[in-house]
Amino acid sequence: MIGNTQRFGVPIGYGGPHAAYMSIKEKHKRSMPGRIIGATVDTKGRLAYRLALQTREQHIRREKATSNICTAQALLAVMASMYAVYHGPEGLKKVAERIFRYAAVFADGISEMGFRIVNETFFDTLTIEVKNSDAVVMQAEKNGYNINVFSKTLVSVSFDELSTPEDIEYLWKIFNTESKLSAQLLFEKNKSQISKNLKRSSEFMTHDVFNTYRSETNMMRYIRYLGDKDLALDRAMIPLGSCTMKLNAAAELIPVTWPEFSQIHPAVPMNQVIGYQQMISELEEMLCEATGYSAISLQPNSGAQGEYAGLIAIRAFHRSNGEENRNICLIPASAHGTNPASAQMAGMKVVVVKTADNGYIDMSDLKSKCKENADNLAAIMITYPSTHGVFEKDVKEVCKVVHKAGGQVYIDGANMNAMVGISAPGEFGGDVSHLNLHKTFAIPHGGGGPGVGPIGVKEHLVDFLPTTPLNNTGVGSIAGAPWGSGSILPISWMYITMLGKNGLYEATTNAILNANYIATRLSKHYPILYSDENGRVAHECIVDLRPIKEKFDISVDDVAKRLIDYGFHAPTMSFPVAGTLMIEPTESESLDELDRFCDAMIQIRKEIRKVESGEYSVKDNPLINSPHTLEMVSSSTWNFSYSREDAAYPVETLKKVKYWSPVSRVDNVYGDKNLICSCPSIENYE
Ligand SMILES: Cc1ncc(COP(=O)(O)O)c(C=O)c1O
Repeated sequence: MIGNTQRFGVPIGYGGPHAAYMSIKEKHKRSMPGRIIGATVDTKGRLAYRLALQTREQHIRREKATSNICTAQALLAVMASMYAVYHGPEGLKKVAERIFRYAAVFADGISEMGFRIVNETFFDTLTIEVKNSDAVVMQAEKNGYNINVFSKTLVSVSFDELSTPEDIEYLWKIFNTESKLSAQLLFEKNKSQISKNLKRSSEFMTHDVFNTYRSETNMMRYIRYLGDKDLALDRAMIPLGSCTMKLNAAAELIPVTWPEFSQIHPAVPMNQVIGYQQMISELEEMLCEATGYSAISLQPNSGAQGEYAGLIAIRAFHRSNGEENRNICLIPASAHGTNPASAQMAGMKVVVVKTADNGYIDMSDLKSKCKENADNLAAIMITYPSTHGVFEKDVKEVCKVVHKAGGQVYIDGANMNAMVGISAPGEFGGDVSHLNLHKTFAIPHGGGGPGVGPIGVKEHLVDFLPTTPLNNTGVGSIAGAPWGSGSILPISWMYITMLGKNGLYEATTNAILNANYIATRLSKHYPILYSDENGRVAHECIVDLRPIKEKFDISVDDVAKRLIDYGFHAPTMSFPVAGTLMIEPTESESLDELDRFCDAMIQIRKEIRKVESGEYSVKDNPLINSPHTLEMVSSSTWNFSYSREDAAYPVETLKKVKYWSPVSRVDNVYGDKNLICSCPSIENYE
């Protein structure tokens, strides 16, 4: 089953973002797109929620992928769930009954006036036969209402929980200017009921969480209780490589809350969104300037959706040249997992290009793959700076080789944080790129979305951008709303406008400087996997933990979990290379915070040395037992071979401020075997 949570407390926002959902039978769980939160247990059997079935993640499935979803609409799903927590089943029923009553009263009046209602049953929407829908719509607009037009003689009106009796009376007048009907009277008379066969009779939302918090105070404390479990950017740097967890400044976010942005329907007439459209076209212009492309489509809702839109544009371009056969997409082994998955979804065949020892694209393999596939080559998808965290000096040559073989160059611009103001993909050989506004251009990640993944294209691809009311390209659209997640676009507009050219350049150079600072400090303690001829990285670096795993059985998971004890979210694990950590500090972190992170990593290396020297046992050390919870450390029994202080306060600064993990090490295998999506009550685990 699929559905949309836009009615669930999320503003309409000129079309987005909103969360949709999909539910499936148990047997389809491994084909489910995106990520699923499942339940598991920790070492003490406590309930813990985690991303389940992680081995299905798109970067592991690659060309076998059945979905390219990485960024989804997590924040909007959380908003909708909080709406449900606050209202509960009784509240939701009340809201629904109120909406139905308003529609029913309106229907009574409209029938009394002699109009025919076309739909026999209804919940919130009525379709009404009129003589001339244009005249009704004009009358509605004059009075400050937008109503939906189906045809020359059919219009429809819908109600929500914010509708008022005055709205009903105004609407009657729109259909008949002489109407003197009183909503109050008709409310008193109306006895309509939702028909029995459409009414749900079974119980729903029976979990405690939907039946406990009914006051704003309680709700606030519940949200705070959940927030306290989180290790978010408001506590510490989140060094997730390839994710760009940068500052989302308050000033950038404020306009999202303004009704002028949040309360606009995506299908309103263009003359009602002159300001919105101005902001959108200014943002498009600024992004064109930053990327070196001729046009931008803001429609895609994530980077991966941008990839898909870009590849569709490439396919349409080849088709327009009579080369429908061009369907091979070359993808370097280092590519972000969404790349091959998107190519697969766009109906292309993925051919993998090897990477050389230094992490660059293997030029001789590229040339031979281009030659082998020259007749059918559609495109190459490369990431710049590469997913290995380096600026590949051969990038222009890569583009030339592919162009010569008749292919288009897709440059994954999700790493634009390392390029804005310095280089532009449209200038060094790209035909099309997507950007992740939720990385480089300051839209918050929201725990996995929302996102905006606009695509920029060169002139020859402009006619193949997704369709909008202003641009009927014939390619079709890839999202229901013409400008995708319109209501969060002001964030990126604010980011670019407030920083200006110099500020953007400074942000990029600081992001690169910060990554190189970390790489330099850590290189004395851990191998740094890839760097350029000058020993430098781009905006992120990869720490190689494979030798440590091989010698002392301390894994990348152990280091990641131990970082929680030090108050840090782990860097990206095992991507793009298994057994490594990829660190991206972004420009937003101060030298103090970079040092705090480096100190933690260096202290962890010292702990590993203690395992090496035998001071810590391989089977009992603070790394493999991490994270340590407050309950563990303050328990009257302590059976570990190291001290409580070593467990909880391995560096002095933690005594000033300490984050406590709510659970100890979670059991991944148990979680994958016992995927539970129904939020069982806590007692079920006791
Ligand atoms: C290089 C690269 N390409 C593509 C993507 C996919 O973007 P999204 O998660 O918005 O689908 C990402 C995500 O971070 C990325 O880092």
